[in-house]
Amino acid sequence: MSFKKFPVEPFKIKAVEKIKLTTPEEREELLRQVGYNVFALPAEKVFIDLLTDSGTAAMSDRQWSRMIIGDEAYSGSQSFFHFEKVIRQIFGYKHVIPAHQGRAAERLLFEALVKEGTYIANNIHFDTTRANVEIRRGVAVDLSWDEAYDPDSPELFKGNMDVNRLDNFLREKGRERVPCVMITVTNNSAGGQPVSMANIKAVSQVCRKYKVPLYFDACRFAENAYFIRQWEPGYQSKSVLEIAQEMFSYGDGATMSAKKDALVNIGGFVTLNDDSLAEELKNLLIISEGFPTYGGLAGRDLEAIAQGLMEGVDEDYLEYRVGQVNYLAQLLTDAGIPVYKPPGGHAVYVLADRFLAHLPREQYPAWALSVALYREAGIRACEIGGVMFGYRDQQTGKMVFPRLELLRLAIPRRVYTLSHLHYIAEAFACLAQKRETIKGFRIVYQAPYLRHFTAKMEEVS
Ligand code: F0G
Repeated sequence: MSFKKFPVEPFKIKAVEKIKLTTPEEREELLRQVGYNVFALPAEKVFIDLLTDSGTAAMSDRQWSRMIIGDEAYSGSQSFFHFEKVIRQIFGYKHVIPAHQGRAAERLLFEALVKEGTYIANNIHFDTTRANVEIRRGVAVDLSWDEAYDPDSPELFKGNMDVNRLDNFLREKGRERVPCVMITVTNNSAGGQPVSMANIKAVSQVCRKYKVPLYFDACRFAENAYFIRQWEPGYQSKSVLEIAQEMFSYGDGATMSAKKDALVNIGGFVTLNDDSLAEELKNLLIISEGFPTYGGLAGRDLEAIAQGLMEGVDEDYLEYRVGQVNYLAQLLTDAGIPVYKPPGGHAVYVLADRFLAHLPREQYPAWALSVALYREAGIRACEIGGVMFGYRDQQTGKMVFPRLELLRLAIPRRVYTLSHLHYIAEAFACLAQKRETIKGFRIVYQAPYLRHFTAKMEEVS
């Protein structure tokens, strides 16, 4: 369809949810009340919510109809067997263990695998994944290639892992101290960039050489597979489902937050081949999440996930989905807003330290931009920068900042239309005109873990 100039929605709307724009005065007062932390805003006071693409998807009529069919038996529900069948079809692993969301799946896996002084390598750990390793006193090591941190590099597949670094790392630590390697598809902490099939294969070979199992953090596997189809030679005639199956064939298991590419509002799972580890995970599951055939979810949720996973690999949907992200990135670029390039699968990442070049890193430019965006237009976005990942070095007493200072505009799946994207771009164009007046922030309260969720901030005058 060569005349298509923009990502037309491959659906029509059957139910709508009202959204309302607050007044500038209301927003100012709300910001003050929540300590300038947009995480703490009541959602009804947000006009366009780009905080996350997680659990925010619009379900389809078919998913809603599967929810009525949900079998709510405590044990052995039909919905579990449906869920298991679909996950086995896509992932190809033997055991399927439901959990209430991604981090619960990670916690189960790491509770079994991570002991004090062991290491988990990942391309880049997502924040909850890192926290789940560290709380077990393990060490979470990021081994992505340098390109991931270069927002201007024209390379494709910037989510890749550095295979040489992985090889050196495994040689140095030895398999006893590395219970598994993980690869996050797509790489959320680096611009939502995909990982190539060639890289997955190479990582798998290195893991096999050292006999270390390879797991996927598979939240956005369908978007990753779609990029492989678009960009990687040899995959153009394969379906996204076939590509996903090939990706997973190089690993030993996966954790997944179904709140992303399974197009549901809650859910997750671990899937793996190792029989004794699966047994251990199921025992842990019973203590915290529930019986192994529901794992913290209702039968209706399992049905919605099973249906959503198949809709998530649908190519018309993915063309629109990835197209929307690309379209917004283009609108922002046209308005002179610096963004991470090329755009990834689920979000546009604004380079906040460049956009607000007058603010030092100590004044958290991406945080300042999140506040300015809400103030200007009622849009909520997520800081992925100094507040989320910065820390004070215990030895030197100095602040250490992550390499990238980003404001993530995550696009919920099937929720916003093209005109919403134009509204977002216009808001940024307005901010660009007064960027020098945007002030920085200092932290006045922080929690010991994942401080960005609850931090209280103060504007630097
Ligand atoms: N792994 C990745 C790569 C993620 O992006 C997330 C969640 C998780 C694991 C944890 O899954 O939320 O279901 O427990 N990311 C969301 C986000 C929160 O906004 O990027 P969860």
